[in-house]
Amino acid sequence: MNNPISTEMNQTLLPQLPIMGAIFDLDGVLTDTSELHFRAWKKLADEEKVLFTRKDNEALRGISRRESLLLILKDKVVSETYLQEMMARKNRYYIDSISTLTPKDLLPGSQELLENLRKEGIKIALGSASKNARSVIGSLGIEHFFDAVADGESVLNQKPAPDLFLYASKMIGIPSSNCVVFEDAAAGIEAALVAGMWAVGIGPQMRLPSAHMVFNNLEGITLKILSTLLTRVSDLKTHLSTENIH
Ligand code: BG6
Ligand code: MG
Repeated sequence: MNNPISTEMNQTLLPQLPIMGAIFDLDGVLTDTSELHFRAWKKLADEEKVLFTRKDNEALRGISRRESLLLILKDKVVSETYLQEMMARKNRYYIDSISTLTPKDLLPGSQELLENLRKEGIKIALGSASKNARSVIGSLGIEHFFDAVADGESVLNQKPAPDLFLYASKMIGIPSSNCVVFEDAAAGIEAALVAGMWAVGIGPQMRLPSAHMVFNNLEGITLKILSTLLTRVSDLKTHLSTENIH
């Protein structure tokens, strides 16, 4: 476990082009394991007689296992030993559910975008809060695309802190301002913005209002398209800030 990286970042700084590094969240971006996390938590919550709905689950996207459990339990007080037992139990349910994952479970466009970025010489890192991330990318057959893996074991402060993404950019040797992050969670978009990176949301716009841009999924995205769109965002933001000065 690495020490937390300084979070003293200027949130208003605009990231730079060209894109030189790409950091992918895993659950909900490359594969639909966020649904499996939900089902495992739901089973645990039912056993514990705690009310937990799909709507409640939205707040758990991208959040660490421990923080997720604390949110589910709300103000219910339990011992540290029991917390640990519940986390282990949920993880057993989750591991059971990912035992059948295969490359067929990659979300549309994932494989193609990873191939395109590699071909273009972009450094690629995984930036997932999950301690199961390495095993999941292994089952999906995409390990070989990644120059570095930052996961739930890599840093102390998880998303929305920027530490995991800063750690990933350091591992691939690319300045954070030249990295783009693909994220389905509001917590992950916040982490990317604080890290000074391009933040690309994957999922409904309503869930990811702060992202620089949002796509439904990775289908059809290429480095060329991304660079064109982010150049427009960059020009627009520069124009707006200049206008404000006059
Ligand atoms: C994130 C998921 O990627 O990983 C969260 O979005 C999950 O839902 C978190 O809680 C931690 O995962 P794990 O596998 O370490 O329990
Ligand atoms: Mg996610």
